Amino acid sequence: MSSFQSSRKVFSSLEPFNATAWDNPFTSEDRERAVDSLEGGRVLYFKDLRFALEPAEKVLLSTSWSDAEAKNISLDPVGGRLRGANADGEEAYGLERMMSRYASHAQKLMQGLVPAYAPALRLGRTSFRPHEVEGRDVRSFRKDDRRLHVDAFPSRPNGGARILRVFTNINPAGKDRVWQIGEPFEAYAGRFVPNLPRPLPGLAHVLALLGITKGIRSPYDHIMLHLHDRTKADLKYQREAPRQEVTFAAGSTWVVFTDQVLHAAMRGQFVLEQTFELPVSALRRGERAPLRILERMTGHSLAA
Ligand SMILES: [Fe+2]
Repeated sequence: MSSFQSSRKVFSSLEPFNATAWDNPFTSEDRERAVDSLEGGRVLYFKDLRFALEPAEKVLLSTSWSDAEAKNISLDPVGGRLRGANADGEEAYGLERMMSRYASHAQKLMQGLVPAYAPALRLGRTSFRPHEVEGRDVRSFRKDDRRLHVDAFPSRPNGGARILRVFTNINPAGKDRVWQIGEPFEAYAGRFVPNLPRPLPGLAHVLALLGITKGIRSPYDHIMLHLHDRTKADLKYQREAPRQEVTFAAGSTWVVFTDQVLHAAMRGQFVLEQTFELPVSALRRGERAPLRILERMTGHSLAA
């Protein structure tokens, strides 16, 4: 790997926005800035956009409702199934209610902020992350989100669609969520992609037939998964790669394409997150999407 000296420069990753309500009426300048910043690999930061818990929901801010094995509690947008929870009855209902309310707030925010995406934006899972990140015992390096990575779904191939995520820090004790943000996607991918293994012929179909993946894993999904795993396994990169530490205060919200922005969650507890998927065709400047960057880098079409 080449030296990091040339890329060790200060870069600002956060793009601030003023909003205190999920249905905030954004100006056309704000909307322009949001699209340009998101697609350019920046994090939209809403310092004062909080998610208010109802009094009965305060009891949900505990690790005791989470399954010991799962990182997060998640809610499926179709059928509303709760996963990773060790709760039933009133508590399970409370978690579902809190998370679906968050999902509808996040949808409202995206509709107001980037209406150009709205017709193509697909609602994905909602997640509640109740564990303290710092010092947590994570058995597999692949699941250790304290290591820099870009997001990729092992069992849900998306063929190049973007992963757009809305996060809100709901820590009741005022504790920050702290991330590290790495270098731009193109520079990062350029270090790893030339050395990634090629997909085994026929493997994508076998995985789909066995139900290990929901649908066929495209060459794009193959690269993104290997990028995710190789990056987390590369201790030299984890130690030396350029990065910026950023802090998300309790009661704040941030929005980011996590398939593009290298990130690591270092500290904090109690976050809600809403995932959206967006086809590359809905972007204003599709050439900045990881799919198109990787296609230019490899000289192949990767979405099929
Ligand atoms: Fe991540």
